[in-house]
Amino acid sequence: MRNLIDIRDLSVAEIAGLMDTASDIIARPADYADAAARKKLATLFFEPSTRTRLSFEAAMYELGGSVLSVAGAENSSASKGESVADTARMISCYADIIAMRHPKEGAPLAAALHASVPVINAGDGGHNHPTQTLADLFTIYREKGGFDGLCVGICGDLRYGRTCHSLISALCRYSGIRFVLISPEELRLPGYVVKGVLCPSGLGYEEVTDLESALPELDVLYMTRIQRERFASPETYERLKDSYVLDEEKLAAAKKDLCVMHPLPRLGEISTDVDGDPRACYFRQALNGKYMRMALILMLLSSRDTAEKRILDSDLLNVCICRNPRCISSTERGLPSVFREAATEPGSYRCLFCEHKPR
Ligand code: NCD
Repeated sequence: MRNLIDIRDLSVAEIAGLMDTASDIIARPADYADAAARKKLATLFFEPSTRTRLSFEAAMYELGGSVLSVAGAENSSASKGESVADTARMISCYADIIAMRHPKEGAPLAAALHASVPVINAGDGGHNHPTQTLADLFTIYREKGGFDGLCVGICGDLRYGRTCHSLISALCRYSGIRFVLISPEELRLPGYVVKGVLCPSGLGYEEVTDLESALPELDVLYMTRIQRERFASPETYERLKDSYVLDEEKLAAAKKDLCVMHPLPRLGEISTDVDGDPRACYFRQALNGKYMRMALILMLLSSRDTAEKRILDSDLLNVCICRNPRCISSTERGLPSVFREAATEPGSYRCLFCEHKPR
């Protein structure tokens, strides 16, 4: 059994394979109409979602499968205090595959440690969102023909934007990419992405605060929403929420073949006057997400790997505890505290669930 918890659970070759399958699904949808017949997908969404949940569900129906759905923690036994582990064990009795979104970082991994069917991370707090990255990669591939050598701007909430973390982690495995990271000072990328992924990749990157001056050199611009729900202080959110607004006037200075992306939902950061511009790719991106989720579901349903083997003998088990209040290990009973030496940062240990260092 395989899971998709982090985008790096998939090799570059596997991602290429998923993109091939997604392209084939687009070309020959009828060939896939029964590909997941009699299989059930459980969608467990403990945070709001429109696109991700509906695209998973549409994906499963288009493969001939069916869907069991819990939307909102308030409608499930999580509201009675059931642990993620018990929920995962129990859903494994009813469904063949699980897509889980949860406000706590590392919750889908905690589920995968106890589920007996594949678990897909559909967004864990401000941490990761690997299936959005599959949609993003397929969009870049279709719009730009590949990844190597692109100048990629990522703009907005790089601190709490889980889509940014997973996308950077994925793109760091291609060659010649240069990143322009555009955010307010307070919302720069977290250390586990910069030190754990970006620096070791050896790829060029710069951190800037101004969108307009960065725009002319970009091949891809990935806009993101300032993540209101992750802010401790409403005042800080109010101050930062309108940091960036992309409109047609600003786009005049951009390349003619720029690819403008957004995981959606957008608030004010892309003006609606951009929607008719051929460079606006965000609605195509949402559609691409359905095809990549179809390809992923097929891959995971057919995998023969045995259970999640994420905890290694060399890990620090229950030696120190994670102090990140957003980590699943801060609330989940019975979950071991697990720290692992980061391969790219010798001597430095990070929580297996949320990637924060012990304090
Ligand atoms: C994103 C998410 O949930 O992280 N949305 C999505 O899945 N398409 C982006 C966001 O909420 O800003």
